[in-house]
Amino acid sequence: MKGAALSPLGKLLRRPWYWFWHFLAKFFFQGRSYTIHVPFGDRVFTPWFDLDSSSNFAQIIRIVQANGPLVVSPDRCYLLYQLACQAAHLPGDMAECGVFTGGTAQILAEVLTRHHSSARLHLFDTFSGMPDTALPERDYHSPGDFSGTSLEFVRNRLRAYASSCEFHPGFMPDTFSEVVNVPQYSFVHIDVDIYLSVLACCEWFWPRLVPGGVMVFDDYGFYSYRHAAKAGVDEFFADKIEQSLVLPTGQALVIKSFSDNSEK
Ligand SMILES: C[S@@+](CC[C@H](N)C(=O)[O-])C[C@H]1O[C@@H](n2cnc3c(N)ncnc32)[C@H](O)[C@@H]1O
Repeated sequence: MKGAALSPLGKLLRRPWYWFWHFLAKFFFQGRSYTIHVPFGDRVFTPWFDLDSSSNFAQIIRIVQANGPLVVSPDRCYLLYQLACQAAHLPGDMAECGVFTGGTAQILAEVLTRHHSSARLHLFDTFSGMPDTALPERDYHSPGDFSGTSLEFVRNRLRAYASSCEFHPGFMPDTFSEVVNVPQYSFVHIDVDIYLSVLACCEWFWPRLVPGGVMVFDDYGFYSYRHAAKAGVDEFFADKIEQSLVLPTGQALVIKSFSDNSEK
């Protein structure tokens, strides 16, 4: 397996490459609800670019961005938001594995608030950076990446949702022992980036997901995560009846079947 870490040249070119694409997106797409679908040329509905609108999603993104960093791109936030709204009508709590500075966690907390839900939002992270279990031959990230946060920062950011959020700081899967009494989940966002963490999250949450419940995996489709997030999801679901649905945003999602929870 070829190492996933970037070469020194790749690291050097990374920033200008993303600046270039951000410039294009800002210039041609931002503020428009219909944009061009690259590379097919169709004009398609892309509400995640129209963040000045009065839609619930645009309102939430403005609240989240006024409150702190949002590192996940708007198209992925939109999918997360829509899927969480659908799952908010199901029984069970919600969870996010991989919180960092709390951007996507705040979207989920807003969803629960706006649905007047009594479900809890469980938030799992070291809150001090990637653990030592990142594998150089698989993972794009190294131990200590994402250390620019703290439990205190995220708690403060989410203080308006204190009645629904439960923090579980520390290493997953060790911190799953704090939720042994939570019987079921309607929605789980897994944004942990590295192979062993993705597997650990699948093993804990999949058996506890209610039928119709959704697990969303960030980074699944990104090339740099092919041996990491994607490998973990593919390996875990290889013997399950459910199919992972790959999205053009780079995410993947899996919906728990109503008919059968057993393996293939
Ligand atoms: C990409 S960041 C999450 C981004 C976040 N969703 C947001 O909106 O900013 C990935 C996070 O996963 C956490 N993480 C990865 N593996 C972990 C593990 N085994 N235990 C605890 N935290 C882990 C890292 O600490 C990091 O903060």
